[in-house]
Amino acid sequence: MLPEAAVRTEETEITSRAFDPDRSLRALHYPLAAASQPPPGVGLAGRDRHPGVDTSAGLTKPAGLLAVYPLDAYVEARMSGSQPDVRTPIPPDEQPARLTALEAAVRARSDLVPQVGLVLGSGLGGLADELLDRVSIPFSEMPGWPAATAPGHVGRLLLGSLEGAPVVMLQGRLHLYEGNDAGLVVQPVLLMGRLGARVVVLTNAAGGVNPSFGPGTLMVIADHLNLTGRTPLLGANDDALGPRFPDLTDVWTPDLQRALHRAGETEGVELSTGVYAGLLGPSYETPAEVRMLRTLGADAVGMSTVLEAIAARWAGLQVCGISLITNAGAGYSGAPLTHEEVLAAGAEAGPRLARVIRRFIRDLGES
Ligand code: HPA
Repeated sequence: MLPEAAVRTEETEITSRAFDPDRSLRALHYPLAAASQPPPGVGLAGRDRHPGVDTSAGLTKPAGLLAVYPLDAYVEARMSGSQPDVRTPIPPDEQPARLTALEAAVRARSDLVPQVGLVLGSGLGGLADELLDRVSIPFSEMPGWPAATAPGHVGRLLLGSLEGAPVVMLQGRLHLYEGNDAGLVVQPVLLMGRLGARVVVLTNAAGGVNPSFGPGTLMVIADHLNLTGRTPLLGANDDALGPRFPDLTDVWTPDLQRALHRAGETEGVELSTGVYAGLLGPSYETPAEVRMLRTLGADAVGMSTVLEAIAARWAGLQVCGISLITNAGAGYSGAPLTHEEVLAAGAEAGPRLARVIRRFIRDLGES
C-alpha cells in the first residue's frame, strides 16, 4: 500500500490536471478505452471514458462524487484496486503522474538509487537470487500493475546490490499478449529511470531465426524490428519526459554493446550479435513467418523487449540487451515448440548469461 502522504500527492497532481478539456476529448480518440469497464464503484456516463464527463456535450458532475472530480476517482480506483484495468490506453503524458505513484510505492520500502536496471526474461530470473540487501516488491503491490501471469515469470521488482553496484531488477515483465496496454508494458523501465538508473539491460528468451543460432546461443541485440503493431508513445506526448519524435538510430547503445562483448570475452562466454524481432504473440510463429522474419533481417524472434527499448530510449536511458536463444525458430526442426523447452533452455544457459551481466555491471562500475 502507498503511504497516506504519497496517495495525497498523487491525488493533488491528478486533480490539477483534470480539467484540461483536451484530456476529456481524448476519450473520443480511444474507442477501446470508451468500451472498457470502469472499476467497481465508479460509474461511466454513457460510452464516455471519464465517469460523469459527456464528451459530446461538455462536463457534467455525477451525483455522489461531489468533492472529487470523477477522473481522480477513476484513476485512483484503477491504480489502487486489486484488479487494475490493464487495457485502457496510457498515453505518454499520463506516465509522469503514474510514475510518481509507483516511485512512492518503491520509496516506502527502499531508498536505494540504482545505477542500472535489469529486466530478466523467461527462465532468466536466477540473477535475482544473487542480489545483496535485497528488497522485493511483488508486481501486485505496485499501483496499477497486474500480477505477472506468464509461466516462468515471477513478477517482482527487486532492489539491491550486484557486484557492488546499486541495481533495480524486474524478475518477469508485463507483456502485450497478457492484454496489457503498451503504456503499461513499458512502465517498469520508465520507473527504473525515475528511480535513478541511467542504463537498462533487457534480456529475453527468443527463437532462433538465423539458422546458425541454435538453442543456448546468447545474442547481443544490435537492433530490432517492432512488429507488434503497437507503440508505447501513442497519444499526447509529455516533452518533459521525452521528445514527440524520438530518434531510434542508436536505440541499442553501441558503447554498451561493446561493453557486453568485452564482458563475454573476459568471462570466456561466446556472444553472437543480431537483430531481434518483437511480435505480439502469444502463439509461436508459423514456419512461413519465420522465413519472412529471416528475409526481413531478423536473427531472433520473441514477444517482448521492443516496446521497452523504445520507451527507455525516448526517456533518455541507455539501452542494451541480450537474447537467449532457447529454440530454433518454428519449422527448422520440424518438432513443435513448447514453453517448457523454452524454460529448460533458459535454465541451462541462464548461468552463462548471468556471468556476462555480472561482469558487465562490474566493468561499468569501474569505468
Ligand atoms: N518465438 C517467439 N518467442 C519465443 C520463441 C519463439 O520461437 N522462443 C522463445 N520465445
